[in-house]
Amino acid sequence: MLIGSSCKMHLSVDEVRDWLRRCAELLPAIDGADLFMLPPFVCLPMAAEELRGTRIAYGAQNMHWEERGAFTGEVSPTMITAFGGTLVELGHAERRRHFGETDDTVNLKVRSALRHDLKPIICVGEPARAASRADDTVAAQVRHALKSVAAENLGKVVIAYEPVWAIGQAQAAEPAYVFDRHRAIRAALVDAYGTTAGDRPKIIYGGSVASENARELAADPAVQGLFVGRAALEPERFRRIVVEATAARGRG
Ligand code: PGA
Repeated sequence: MLIGSSCKMHLSVDEVRDWLRRCAELLPAIDGADLFMLPPFVCLPMAAEELRGTRIAYGAQNMHWEERGAFTGEVSPTMITAFGGTLVELGHAERRRHFGETDDTVNLKVRSALRHDLKPIICVGEPARAASRADDTVAAQVRHALKSVAAENLGKVVIAYEPVWAIGQAQAAEPAYVFDRHRAIRAALVDAYGTTAGDRPKIIYGGSVASENARELAADPAVQGLFVGRAALEPERFRRIVVEATAARGRG
């Protein structure tokens, strides 16, 4: 199980430090989970300090695809790796909605991340709950994000299925709905790359994950991890989510 969290811009710098420190104490003891945390850019040096020597990977919530240039306000892949970051979240629904991220820019960023040895966590998700159209939407987003990505790089790719309508809500998408969409994403990958390579990317679920629903969301092997927002801001709740999700996987 790959389980991680982006704290978005929810916390102050001091709060991010507490969050990283406390999670570093609580989470690594839990078996069966690969863990990651994505603080804001300015807290990457802090993540390097607080997470050093733990088995929690860390990275950024976005990046530019170029290494340097006249791109005011942007952060390059090498700035992330310079602080030990190994992952980067790309194409989150909030970046698409508020900051003009498109499938084309996500693709540029995915290819750049792979060139710089950063694991891209590619966020996809349909805007409204509609099973029939959702599969086409997410399949198209996945295909577009991976345009010109070689099969041999797919093992480094993570797809985060995050239905837009389930982010920041009181409830996650229902498990059965999530499992179907994960299978549709897998089918799109296999269709594009064949069975061996198409099976390589991990597909994780995000959108109102909480300790109350983590076990049922993780119950199907099609869900290979969880991506948590608000519920992970309290380290103790984050810990419970990891415990619940790994317990579900242990059973099956
Ligand atoms: P949420 O955020 O858990 O607060 O719904 C999830 C996400 O946006 O990844």
